[in-house]
Amino acid sequence: MKIAVLNGSPKGEISVTVQYIKLIQKKFPQHELKLINVAHDIIKIEKDDGLFKSIIEEVRQSDGVIWAFPLYVFLVCSQYKRFIELIAERGAQKEFAGKYATALSTSVHFFDNTAQNYMHGICDDLDMRYIEPFSADMDDIMIDNLRRLLLKWADNFFIAVEKRTPTMKLNAPIVYKKFTYQPGKGSGKIETKGMKIRVLADITGEKSNLAKMVQRFKESFKSDIQVIRTSDVKMRGGCLGCMQCAFDNICVYQGKDGFVDYFNAGRDADIIIFAAEIVDRFFSSRLKMFWDRSFFNGHIPTAVDKQMGFIISGPLSQVANLQEIINAMPQISGGNLAGVITDECADSGQIDKLIEGFAAKCIDNAEHTYMLPRTFLGVGGHKIFRDQIWARLSFPFTADYRYYEAHGLFDFPQQDTRYLEFSKQMIEMIKDPKMKEMVRKMMKTEMLKGYAKIVETK
Ligand SMILES: Cc1cc2nc3c(=O)[nH]c(=O)nc-3n(C[C@H](O)[C@H](O)[C@H](O)COP(=O)(O)O)c2cc1C
Repeated sequence: MKIAVLNGSPKGEISVTVQYIKLIQKKFPQHELKLINVAHDIIKIEKDDGLFKSIIEEVRQSDGVIWAFPLYVFLVCSQYKRFIELIAERGAQKEFAGKYATALSTSVHFFDNTAQNYMHGICDDLDMRYIEPFSADMDDIMIDNLRRLLLKWADNFFIAVEKRTPTMKLNAPIVYKKFTYQPGKGSGKIETKGMKIRVLADITGEKSNLAKMVQRFKESFKSDIQVIRTSDVKMRGGCLGCMQCAFDNICVYQGKDGFVDYFNAGRDADIIIFAAEIVDRFFSSRLKMFWDRSFFNGHIPTAVDKQMGFIISGPLSQVANLQEIINAMPQISGGNLAGVITDECADSGQIDKLIEGFAAKCIDNAEHTYMLPRTFLGVGGHKIFRDQIWARLSFPFTADYRYYEAHGLFDFPQQDTRYLEFSKQMIEMIKDPKMKEMVRKMMKTEMLKGYAKIVETK
């Protein structure tokens, strides 16, 4: 069988993910795995339609497709996403339809679920026959049992293609409403109270709903706020994954394009707003490039105590995976999600009210440093980063290590001496069966004591 492997690593073949593919190829020589470096070559592919068509021809001739990619900031890298956009823009979907597909990602499991969900959605949209993916930790290949599982997964995929195993879709097609937003006049009433507001707006058309929503947001305030268009920031390309930034947070593009200056100029913003249209099951690859390029900061949270928000044009309610990403983004950056508004209600008056309410909330939240408690997304995410930076990533990410150490982010439970000491005493105590019985009976009331004291005294 012939399998087209669409390589999503910007590093081309000098890639961890590609080693997984090479091992599979070695163990299954009866199948031909044709590796195509779509992320690495994206600039050429975009410019040269002949090259794009030759890749699509490889897909057409294949029996199945493996989407093989490293995880980049909740998703695939911007270059890979651009390739996915090109499939739709250049009408190549029909060559994917009906083909068997699966996904192989490598990562440290930080939001690998959202990246995998995204690829599943894309395969469903392309009408492909999706077979269960494999989300490897980047080092799984070194471990005998995990390597065995990888090969078993690959074999399962080949068998599914050969036997034409029945598949089903998990994602309903996204339906767009036709609606033109007609903004009312902005109140110009909301005081910014000295808060700096910065909007990064991924606007593609002056008459788009998004452009008008951003303008309406701007006009809600008494004083001017900063709106930067993604098209105004000169960028030579997406993150290269070269990790040259890991020691001192200096990007290889620094001084060569406008991204780092753009990023650094916004560090003092109190409120950060992303304004974007939904493109397939995420935002545009252009906005994704901004998020990937922010990785020059490594794993250091860059929005500590800031308010963040989203102004979105498009059917967000139909993309639960994107909602999860939106919820997670502020939490892992150290900020708070002040709100999300969309044009989905298709009612201009209502959108005006939503925008005005959102603008006021951003200021009120910022004024009170209002931070909602982090959920599993933020709490779990922190623990993954903490563990990685403590050991495996402590080199080369030395800048991260210094930051985590200086800011008390190595908050391992081993350091929680108060609870450790208490538990030790109690475990000792319940060795006596009588005490054990007594403690068992007192469990509910004793557990509440500390809480009740707070209610009484505070
Ligand atoms: C810009 C960038 C962003 C990344 N984002 C994530 C992430 O969000 N979650 C994760 O688990 N790993 C992330 N990683 C780690 C890579 O996914 C991982 O190292 C992968 O194995 C690299 O594969 P490759 O060598 O094939 O490119 C990121 C790496 C880079 C360079």
